[in-house]
Amino acid sequence: MNETNLSLKYLIDQLHKEQTLTKEEWITLIEGRTPELSEYLFSMAREERHRYYGHDVYVRGLIEFTNYCKNDCLYCGIRKSNGNTHRYRLSEADILKCCKEGYELGFRTFVLQGGEDGYWTDDRLVALVAAIRRHFPDCAITLSIGERSRASYQRLFDAGADRYLLRHETATKAHYGRLHPPELSFERRMRCLADLKAIGYQVGCGFMVGSPWQTPADIARDLAFIRRFEPEMVGIGPFIPHRDTPLGAFPAGTVEMTCKLLAIIRLLLPDALLPATTALATLDPRGCEKGMLAGANVVMPNLSPPDAREKYALYEGKASAAGETADALSDLQKRMENIGYRVTIARGDHRSFPDGEAALTRKKGEHDPCTT
Ligand code: 5AD
Repeated sequence: MNETNLSLKYLIDQLHKEQTLTKEEWITLIEGRTPELSEYLFSMAREERHRYYGHDVYVRGLIEFTNYCKNDCLYCGIRKSNGNTHRYRLSEADILKCCKEGYELGFRTFVLQGGEDGYWTDDRLVALVAAIRRHFPDCAITLSIGERSRASYQRLFDAGADRYLLRHETATKAHYGRLHPPELSFERRMRCLADLKAIGYQVGCGFMVGSPWQTPADIARDLAFIRRFEPEMVGIGPFIPHRDTPLGAFPAGTVEMTCKLLAIIRLLLPDALLPATTALATLDPRGCEKGMLAGANVVMPNLSPPDAREKYALYEGKASAAGETADALSDLQKRMENIGYRVTIARGDHRSFPDGEAALTRKKGEHDPCTT
């Protein structure tokens, strides 16, 4: 083994042992092209994943319920200024129908994802979450609906939501400023994440890999932030340009770097719930398998109605099995079995929230607003 590889191997071992590295070490590991060492890194990531979650793959039914958005994020295909997007919003009845179909197929987590859509006020969302909670008491409800006030997050939690996905997008303030319009603030994003955690949600943060202007130092800050914040879930996927956005001419992130970072995050937070994301599957037909073999343990198949799926285009060419969800699911089951994994019917909570502890806490009314 040459000298560079030896020092990278040392860093991987160090990360495995200590679950952290210094900023300089992060940068060396991120910059080091490690084709020979990737398998070493991936096998270590799998070892950790197996320790906590065995060979189980958790599935989450993704329901993209609105593509209206008041924000203008420069990378996102459903940004407000994109006049080429056909806007849609599902009704509560449509959403419950998606859940029912998903439940029958074995899904026990529903992820409601949407743009920041003014139609979905707190009252409407609370009614929706409460209805899902009532109809599907044994399921986890995950929200992914952007920045809201702490009071709003609290109401949704009290109505029955268990988890919340809000990617931090980048932990570098200046980089955040380049990817977002001036009315969005890095501090507010971080505030939202802290609020969600304090309320008692299982929280997911995350970032795009290879987003415009991202440097190894930015990624190092993302990793240091993730280590500090200790989210229950981390969503990362490659940046994929969308032609109707100001960043449409930038190159996409790579599958290689995404898998490397999945493995690194697995070593950083060994018991995190880590999805192999749709963006990864969009860049590579075997992206999902590659993500699993790099330490991921979650997949989020789409439960949205087919005509909604194509309109929810955050980026171009988004992988969306055009056919029935049932076919997509059995295809996924086979593909996971082929690499030694098994799709599981379970809520798939984080280890520190056994059997949906949030739900139990809620029942007892034990909210301490001062907990961090
Ligand atoms: N490429 C990849 N991911 C994107 N997202 C938004 N636009 C893109 C894009 N062009 C991601 C963001 C957001 C999540 C819902 O989708 O990280 O948080």
